[in-house]
Amino acid sequence: MSEALASEPAALAELACAVAQEAGDLLQSRHSQVRVVQTKSSPTDVVTQMDRAAEDLIRRRILAERPGDAILGEEGGQPDAVGAGGVRWVVDPLDGTVNYLYGLPDWSVSIAAEVNGIVVAGAVSVPERQSLFSARLGGGAWQRSPGGPATALSCTTGVALADALVGTGFGYAAARRARQGRVVAAVLPRVRDIRRGGSAAVELCSVAAGHLDAFYERGLNPWDVAAGGLIAREAGAQVGGLHGRPASDSMTVVAGPGLFRPLHDLLASLDPERDD
Ligand code: IPD
Ligand code: CA
Ligand code: CA
Repeated sequence: MSEALASEPAALAELACAVAQEAGDLLQSRHSQVRVVQTKSSPTDVVTQMDRAAEDLIRRRILAERPGDAILGEEGGQPDAVGAGGVRWVVDPLDGTVNYLYGLPDWSVSIAAEVNGIVVAGAVSVPERQSLFSARLGGGAWQRSPGGPATALSCTTGVALADALVGTGFGYAAARRARQGRVVAAVLPRVRDIRRGGSAAVELCSVAAGHLDAFYERGLNPWDVAAGGLIAREAGAQVGGLHGRPASDSMTVVAGPGLFRPLHDLLASLDPERDD
């Protein structure tokens, strides 16, 4: 395969989908064996042996097809590396580890491919919902069940803030959570309702599919957002930070046309980009 062909979004999306599906199958088939092997930023920020097994599989599969590429994985590393053809994969092998540990269905495998720093392809597999979400830059966002047809996704449009179902999430550190609790307490009376799904990648896909009108969270890492952010954008949603900044660990806001600005303005008034 030539380098130019290999870096086309369609080829990268196809590989992302195949590998996300396979890693999701592995996680599902070995669910009963899950055990915590490490804690990270706080005692509630857990890593299981299955996070690691899924990332090992993803690395092996990607590098078998594309040995020159770089991989930024949550459990692995290579944060600043870029592959020979400018391709870097951004991988969360198990997004929603706490849901997985407790037997709740919203956990996912998130795999994105960047070319020269731009996310051009992404896949999010949600095995317990038999769903594979995917997108490639300029190619729309799609959802399919194994063996089923692909359905094009569109986010909701024209939803007033007061009518919006808004997803959010919380970090693992107590000081961050204390602030996030104050912010969400101020958002709650202003919207239809709040959901805390437990997998940011799934929630971004939920915005893409119209199952949430919007989502925001402070503290997300690149692997939480890379694939789902592209999927949401390709479904018509706006993805950004506060005050015109791009989405980042400081704040990520995702909403359909017409809703992004009022949600942004509400959040900006609540000083949400700090910890208590
Ligand atoms: C977490 C989930 C959660 C979000 C956290 C993330 P993990 O990822 O996406 O919904 O609120 O900020 O860290 O730890 O399960 O991969
Ligand atoms: Ca994650
Ligand atoms: Ca993870």
